[in-house]
Amino acid sequence: MKRTKIADIFNPALLGQEVCVKGWVRTRRGNKYVQFVALNDGSTIKNIQIVFDMNEFTDEQLKPVTTGSSVCVEGLLVESMGKGQTCEIQAKKLEVYGTADPETYPLQKKGHTLEFLREKAHLRPRTNTFGAVLRVRSTLAYAIHKFFQEKGFFYLNTPLITASDCEGAGAMFQVTTLPLNDLPKTEDGQVDYSQDFFGKPTALTVSGQLEGELGATALGAIYTFGPTFRAENSNTPRHLSEFWMIEPEMAFYDITDNMDLAEEFVKYCIGYALDHCRDDIEFLAEHFDKDLIERLEFVLHNDFVRLTYTEGVKILEESGKKFEFPVSWGIDLQSEHERYLVEEHFKKPVILTDYPKDIKAFYMKQNEDGKTVRAMDVLFPNIGEIIGGSEREADYDKLLKRIEELNIPMKDMWWYLDTRRFGTVPHSGFGLGFERLVLFVTGMTNIRDVIPFPRTPNNAEF
Ligand code: 4AD
Ligand code: MG
Repeated sequence: MKRTKIADIFNPALLGQEVCVKGWVRTRRGNKYVQFVALNDGSTIKNIQIVFDMNEFTDEQLKPVTTGSSVCVEGLLVESMGKGQTCEIQAKKLEVYGTADPETYPLQKKGHTLEFLREKAHLRPRTNTFGAVLRVRSTLAYAIHKFFQEKGFFYLNTPLITASDCEGAGAMFQVTTLPLNDLPKTEDGQVDYSQDFFGKPTALTVSGQLEGELGATALGAIYTFGPTFRAENSNTPRHLSEFWMIEPEMAFYDITDNMDLAEEFVKYCIGYALDHCRDDIEFLAEHFDKDLIERLEFVLHNDFVRLTYTEGVKILEESGKKFEFPVSWGIDLQSEHERYLVEEHFKKPVILTDYPKDIKAFYMKQNEDGKTVRAMDVLFPNIGEIIGGSEREADYDKLLKRIEELNIPMKDMWWYLDTRRFGTVPHSGFGLGFERLVLFVTGMTNIRDVIPFPRTPNNAEF
């Protein structure tokens, strides 16, 4: 008999019909006359209740049906008498695919802590919470492609193995096939990378932007969506060593066009999730964050505040608030500063622009003042920085000068500079941290809980 997904079973048209469902048992309870099984197959947060009339089944048959076991059930879909469910299945046929020993299956009781579940990341997708988070994550990924494809942007795949450090932060994971216990050396005692796989030092990318600019200055507008890697020793609830980033890059966009796109884009994603993941978001709101839906709607329906870094710093200095990291012009803003502006001062998402050039990457367009660059960071409640971007320096001489000032090895950058040598154009782009978006939309508070298998310092399990 053809299987129906549980997501499709709550359909009045199916009432009175024979159905077949397959999934994992969440709970079983009852007495010697009747047994109730809550079954979930991952297609929805909802369980279907299956009723076993114990005149028709033996205790022996039901014995292996324990929490975590997998079954196939055929039966009649009927209206439910029970509270909170619209329909249930009167079982006629039961097949057990796999048992789950109650002594050893780790997800026995409800209400395991998120910390406990992180240690069980191989099984946590079977919980309500992670099922909900992973479905929202998948829907957001789809929304992202939909948004850009419908706007005529092209999906560009940029390399994961690279020889250039886009953000210049020196936080790259090296990629090598050299024997680490017996490194080949040159005559002057340096590692001989000519013997390495690519004949030179390489690493995992921190950003696809530089190659994204090559795409934008040919196809007009592109976006990337892929994994990026950062070997920073940041043990915070907002940093991963492996995270996914969406990086649109557009020719003929200035910083204002860039901000408009960023705002439209995140609002679209949030709206799409609210429209298509309502059950999951309501579940997460109920269990973790009562204000979640209100916060999402609020972001959706308000214009983001736009101001310069210099104005932002002035507000922070005049706030009279005691920050852990003191504020003065030139500092890299900490999450406490960003969150003060967003959550306490403006009570709205904020786009800060025109940061000091010394705290931003080499490729940003330099302002006339000689001190600031045309950067933009989008700051969100509960998250802090969700997007970082800029208008790019399109002038060959200014860009080259900045590369030299920062001692970036030129031999690695010749291809990037060619975009400014041949048909340079004003252009802009930004990067959205995918997990930070998923954090915001799900109301989770730790970034380790919105990616299936988090990689963080000292943790690469599963
Ligand atoms: O601000 P970032 O470093 O900017 C770039 O990489 C630019 N190349 C983007 C561009 O203009 N095309 O990173 C962009 C975003 C951040 O705003 C943040 O949301 C996220 O990526 N991000 C991280 N997310 C999780 N873990 C980390 N360690 C992250 N580092 C940055
Ligand atoms: Mg940034």
